[in-house]
Amino acid sequence: MAQRTVGERQVSVMGLGCMPVSFPEHATDPERGIAVIHRALDLGITLLDTADIYAPSWDAMGHNERVVGQALRSYAGPANMGEVLVASKGGITRSPGEVWGRDASRDGLVAAAEASCEALGVDVIDLYQLHRPDPALTYAEQVRSLAAVRDAGLTRMIGLSNATLPELQVALDEVGGPADGGIVSVQNEFSPRFRGDAEVLEVCTEWGIAFLPWSPLGGAEQASTIGDRYAVFAEVGREVEATPHEVVLAWLTGLSPVMIPIPGASRPATVDSIVRAAAVQLTDEQVQRLSASVPEATSMYPEDQPRPRLR
Ligand SMILES: NC(=O)c1ccc[n+]([C@@H]2O[C@H](COP(=O)([O-])OP(=O)(O)OC[C@H]3O[C@@H](n4cnc5c(N)ncnc54)[C@H](OP(=O)(O)O)[C@@H]3O)[C@@H](O)[C@H]2O)c1
Repeated sequence: MAQRTVGERQVSVMGLGCMPVSFPEHATDPERGIAVIHRALDLGITLLDTADIYAPSWDAMGHNERVVGQALRSYAGPANMGEVLVASKGGITRSPGEVWGRDASRDGLVAAAEASCEALGVDVIDLYQLHRPDPALTYAEQVRSLAAVRDAGLTRMIGLSNATLPELQVALDEVGGPADGGIVSVQNEFSPRFRGDAEVLEVCTEWGIAFLPWSPLGGAEQASTIGDRYAVFAEVGREVEATPHEVVLAWLTGLSPVMIPIPGASRPATVDSIVRAAAVQLTDEQVQRLSASVPEATSMYPEDQPRPRLR
């Protein structure tokens, strides 16, 4: 599979979003999650995205990280923990009664990263991302918390998630980009359903910061009907003999050399299609036609407003 860059590492152009295997309907069957991840490793996927909160309930935090760790340890093929880049996230909390909150304080984020190491079964995480901003702190403070996780030796690389352009700029001012040991990745929502902030993608492209579009197919509830809702993706699919889903993933990689989609999968057969998407060749005209067909839409997380103060 074609390779792209995350910091100092090369990874497959398609990553795997591991979240769906921890949905309540799948979490009782960890073997299913392990089978999905093993299929991805078999086919050359070397970027796995997880998070501490991907769990069927608040008291099972770390569920997804435990499945990822188990899958890597039990894998009999050539890839192993050292060759696969595992990206986790912290900064969102879940408490008794399924109360969701944020904690990107220094102590909070370091404690979350320690728990993620334990759940993954590693001493150091490859890439640790600030999941969502904490409105109680300035963004600059949160970026310093993230840097403290790195400085404590709990992660090799750091990245952002759900960051606006001004927030990304503050982070680059605080810790620099990939060449400075600073921000190596931004994971924002980006799909035909929600075309993310083009300026964030531009800055990432300019700095060589990997852009990991989350819910690239619009999320689990909408993914199956993407060809019905976005007819041009189905049309181009007929032209290149690919499914609309594969065209979406190929379109994303055609938008910038830093794009590395992380589609979610709960079935090994889905992984086969994700890997087929890596081989779909689109012309510039097709990429432009697809981009022009995508409407403006709202994020599935409007509660992220208002944003924290920057400084
Ligand atoms: N940073 C954040 O705030 C944030 C938020 C949401 C998600 N994420 C990350 O982004 C990842 C992806 O997002 P997501 O899982 O919400 O949504 P998604 O990738 O847009 O959609 C996932 C669904 O699409 C289906 N699918 C994937 N590839 C397909 C293909 N080639 N053909 C047909 N169907 C396909 C899967 O089906 P099956 O289940 O049948 O296999 C799955 O149900 C997550 O796993 C997570 O790692 C991050």
